[in-house]
Amino acid sequence: MGNQYAIATYDLTREFKTSIITNYYSSGIEHGGVFFYELWKKATAKKRIIHALYKLNVRVRKGSFTYLLGPNGSGKTTLLRILATFLLPTSGRAEVMGYDVVNERKRVLEVINYIPSLLAGSIWANLRLTVRRNLEIMAKLMGYERERVEEALKITGLKDIENNPVGALSTGQQARLVLALGVMREAPVFLLDEPTMGLSPEVVRTVQDYLIRLCREKKVTMFYSTHHLHEVERTADHVILLNRGRKIAEGSPRELTKIVGEVDTIKIRLNNVYFDLREFCSGARYSEINTLDREVGRYEIRLGVPDADSMLPHLVTRLVSRGARIERIEVSRPTLEDVFIYLVQGERVAKVQRN
Ligand SMILES: Nc1ncnc2c1ncn2[C@@H]1O[C@H](COP(=O)(O)OP(=O)(O)O)[C@@H](O)[C@H]1O
Ligand SMILES: [Mg+2]
Repeated sequence: MGNQYAIATYDLTREFKTSIITNYYSSGIEHGGVFFYELWKKATAKKRIIHALYKLNVRVRKGSFTYLLGPNGSGKTTLLRILATFLLPTSGRAEVMGYDVVNERKRVLEVINYIPSLLAGSIWANLRLTVRRNLEIMAKLMGYERERVEEALKITGLKDIENNPVGALSTGQQARLVLALGVMREAPVFLLDEPTMGLSPEVVRTVQDYLIRLCREKKVTMFYSTHHLHEVERTADHVILLNRGRKIAEGSPRELTKIVGEVDTIKIRLNNVYFDLREFCSGARYSEINTLDREVGRYEIRLGVPDADSMLPHLVTRLVSRGARIERIEVSRPTLEDVFIYLVQGERVAKVQRN
């Protein structure tokens, strides 16, 4: 059964127990020490269980470029950490290349390359040595081939600063260094947790191009989490959308955009808005209001409507009559971002469930 899938989860659930502390009496703690602290905790802390993942069933095809999308707190990192064997499931199971992440941990570790978010990557490097030297040492330590260093320098755009000491790198360059360490390792399954966080758009593109090449030419499975939707459309074979630890939709980008139906997306950038924009959003299939600058009443509204041509003149007239000044209007076909807004903000679960 597991043959065609690189990753499979079966009712995978992960709970976290948290205490919500309601009444905070700071003086009680200062005077009370441990004993009083315990009493105080009993009196005021409410235990709550968070389902970071709840009965999740996902399948990732071998050799596919699959994205894991979801807003902050939807469970992306939890899922990837479980797959990488660094976190245990509360119930249910997960397999990577047919190996159980709990009972066959060593096997799983052999087949994965887990690249966590760059901001989570600690600085392992020797600050006085050069970029290249640091990578060489790491390669030797981990038993990677020497060519991997050259390759990693190129992919992450560090080639022209390879002889700079690591201590002199900017934050963005450090982020690239951490990623360079990640891509030196070869494995049939890559688990990437927001790997492009903190990188400039050009570097994001080279890194993605590299990952796509690995996926297409060497059939490496990519399971890649992000909340930057524009990265996705270009490269995705399959997208899994999470919200609150549950799968709310999946499919190819094209299949997913069908979820919102026959609509256009209208984006209007306005200023001088000192009234409630929400009334202009009622009736739309999906909508979002982004505050750009509250001081000057500058906003961008995004609306999904069945027929933009017939709707726009009326909408613009109403906005202008309330004093708004229009900076820009854009009409386009729905994108994944619209699907995301539709499903996540509307707390919906799409019927399209494949695999
Ligand atoms: N160690 C932890 N202790 C308590 N709650 C946690 C812990 N790790 C994650 N959570 C909670 O689990 C949920 C999912 O988090 P996470 O997997 O980090 O989401 P994402 O990566 O999609 O932002 C969140 O509500 C988060 O607060
Ligand atoms: Mg995360």
